[in-house]
Parts: sequence; C-alpha cells; structure tokens
Amino acid sequence: MSRIVVVSNRVPVPAGNSGHAGGLAVALLGLMQRRGGLWFGWSGAVTEETGPPAFSRRGAVGYATLDLTEAEHRGYYTGYSNGVLWPMLHSLPHLMSFRRQDLDTYRRVNRRFADNLAPLLEQDDRIWVHDYHLFSLPGALRSQGVRNPTGFFLHVPFPAPDAAAVAPGIRSLVQDVLASDLLGFQTASDRDNFAATATEFAGAVRTGDQQLELGGRPIRLGVFPAEIAAREFAATAAAQSALEPARLLARSLQGQSLILGVDRLDPTKGLPERLEAFRRVIARRPARSATMLQIAAPSREDVLAYRRLRQEVDSAAGSINSEFGEPDWLPLRLLARPQTRDTVAGFMRLARVCLVTPIRDGMNLVAKEFIAAQDPSDPGVLVLSRFAGAAAQLSSALLVNPHDAEGMAEALACALDMPRAERLERWLAAWEAIAGASPEGWGEDFLRALAPGDLAGLPAA
Ligand code: G6P
Repeated sequence: MSRIVVVSNRVPVPAGNSGHAGGLAVALLGLMQRRGGLWFGWSGAVTEETGPPAFSRRGAVGYATLDLTEAEHRGYYTGYSNGVLWPMLHSLPHLMSFRRQDLDTYRRVNRRFADNLAPLLEQDDRIWVHDYHLFSLPGALRSQGVRNPTGFFLHVPFPAPDAAAVAPGIRSLVQDVLASDLLGFQTASDRDNFAATATEFAGAVRTGDQQLELGGRPIRLGVFPAEIAAREFAATAAAQSALEPARLLARSLQGQSLILGVDRLDPTKGLPERLEAFRRVIARRPARSATMLQIAAPSREDVLAYRRLRQEVDSAAGSINSEFGEPDWLPLRLLARPQTRDTVAGFMRLARVCLVTPIRDGMNLVAKEFIAAQDPSDPGVLVLSRFAGAAAQLSSALLVNPHDAEGMAEALACALDMPRAERLERWLAAWEAIAGASPEGWGEDFLRALAPGDLAGLPAA
C-alpha cells in the first residue's frame, strides 16, 4: 500500500505553532496514520533566512516543514494568495490588491516547496496537494522530474473564466495545476467553472464530465464535498451543553431565543450584510425576545481588507446595540476572539437559529456542524446562503441571498417563529444528508480516485 504525501500551506504539526488543525486535517491524519504518511508544508514560522525542512514524527506520520522569510510570507501568503487569489476565487475582485513582485514570490515559494519535497519522495508515494496557495506546485514537481500520481483539491470555490481572468498570473497557475492527475472540487459548479477556464486559458479539452485532456494526457476531475464527523460532533455538542460555557450562556439568555453566527472575520463571510438583517429583525420585535451571539475570529490581519472589515463590523455592532439596547439588555454580543470547536458545539446546541450567510464559500463546515449539534427532539433552524457549497447538500435549510438584507431579515424572522413540526422536518432532511458521510470517507474517496484499487486493503474507517 502506497504512502500518502499531503502538501498544504498550513500543517497541523503536533504542538506546532500554526494551530490550525481543523476537522479535515484531523481526518487526513487518521488516514495517514493507517497508511503511513508524510505531511509537508509551511511551519507557521517566519524567520530571517530560509533553511532546509525541519522533521518531526508522530506515529506513522512524518512532518517536514519549511519556515518562510518575511519577504516570502508577505509576497506568497499575504500578498498573492490572500490579496489576489482569495478575493478572485470568491468573486470579490474589488478587494484584490496586486503587486507583480508578489506573484513572482508566490511562484518562487511554490518552487522552493517542490525543490525541498522532491528528494523526500519515494517511488510509490501518492501526492495530495491542498488549496490555492499551491496552484503552481504540481507543475513545479513535474519540472523536478517527479512522476508520482499527484492530486490537487481546491477547498474554496472556482469562478467562471471571465471572473478568474481578473487575477494577473492566473493563466500560468492554471497551466501549473493541470500537471496533476486528478483535480478535486467541493461542488459540480466549481468543477465546471475550472474546466471551462482550463479550456479557455490552457488549451485543455473537456473529454467528459469528469475528464480533461491536455497534450494527449488525461486529467481527471472529481467532486468531493468536504464532510464532518457528524455523529461525533453531535455527541460533543450534547456533552458540551451541560458544561460551564454553554450553561453560563444559557443562563444569561433568560429564555430568549439565541441567534448564532460563527465565522472567521473574513470579507467573504457576509458579516456586515448579516448584521443589517439582524438590525431589521430586532427593530421589529419586542426587546428581550432574541439575542444574537456572533463569534468572529480575527484572521489575516496583515491584509488591509481584513482590518477594514474589523472596523466595519465593530461599528455596525456598536450602532445596533446603541440604537436598540436597554439599560439591562443588549441585542448583540460580538466576540472578535476564536472559541474552541468544543465550546462552539455546545453553543450551537443552544441556538434556535444559526446564520451562515457567506457572500461565497467553498463548503462551510459550520453549516454542517450546526445541523449535527442539534437536539433531535427540538432542533434549531439553519439560515444558509445559497452561495455556500453546503447549500448543494443542505437544501432543506432556509436558503437566502446574502446581498438581500430584507430577504435575510424575513428568513430570520421566519426561523425564529418556525413551529416545531417544520423545524423537525427540515432538520431531519439535513441530518440525513450529512450523517452517513465522514471526513475519512472524503479522503478515501479522493485517494481512490487518484489511484483506483490502491485503497482496497484499507480497513473500514
Ligand atoms: C480557508 C482556506 C484554508 C485556510 C483557512 C484559514 O478555509 O481554504 O486553506 O487554511 O481558510 O486561513 P489561513 O489564512 O489562516 O490559513
């Protein structure tokens, strides 16, 4: 059975300082532990000089990580990945800020990753590259003579060719990523947009729903919606609802309905639009009937658009509270601090409504987590942007257009007043869409598509 080599910008090094072991990372680790694996990427550290990779190991998984220099971090991560690709991929071109040297640095860092990874590879390795920071890596690995099966999964959306074209440099990045054998996407629409872009920019030919051809070489395309461990998350939420953070929150609500939002503080998440919808709802309801808790974890504070957003959200929240608050009551609680996933699970179980209203989102696992966290006998209501990848699977949620504040306000009011029978019916349909899937299954599906037959010997997850 071949070894799995995962490459991603963030690496969940045990006790490392990147601190980003999300649900998917944990699931991938499980898979790699069973097959033996190498995880390669950025250490999370910014240092003065570049050096060779640092190695560590936990069980059957080895880690090889590179530090970034200040200039690399600024050009590759802050500048091009987050200042150009992220807004373009989420169809927010007005937030792009392009500097030619950042594109050069992005390419150079991708090449440095490839140069340092190539000597670590073994003949039977399967390589799995993750996300938009590393579009150029498959091409750079091929130029190093690497011939191992290579898959690439895009965690975020991919827009139509016209929208992709606004990012300077994207044509060559599409060429580079087409050096992969398999390209995975969250939704069929992302897959189709990418295929159209590859056809237009790189001369690829779409030879089937799931296939492109470039220079006679087949490139497979697949849709692999990211999943959560729903049953496990449900158990965590039930346990957490009895613990202190959730109990204190419940007590402070004094019977009011809880409206919850959980996001990174990111321009794609639709936070100002969401607060405007909440403002409209609160203006029409008696004081003390509902309280909103918005958790907005600061993110990418080196990028100007994120700092501006922080100010905008702080100011909108302040004006809601100053307009509608009472001496003994405030309608909105805004926490610009991350909370642990477990604590959030407990909060989710208390919430009557969860607002997941991104302008655009690859998948949005918060939407799935909220469904998993509900008490099946008295579930809350998910209000979900139709532009989140999750909407393709969670069509029983109240689907909204995040640009339509009045439409969102109506959906929120409807959610707050929804009779239990309808809540149950909607929740059950959503639960059935997610309960059977798992992040391990997601990883295995991708790897099976990358190397058919190779996973035959794996024990079931
Ligand atoms: C999104 C991206 C990930 C990224 C995460 C956190 O989910 O798809 O690749 O790691 O955001 O952002 P950060 O910039 O802190 O890594």
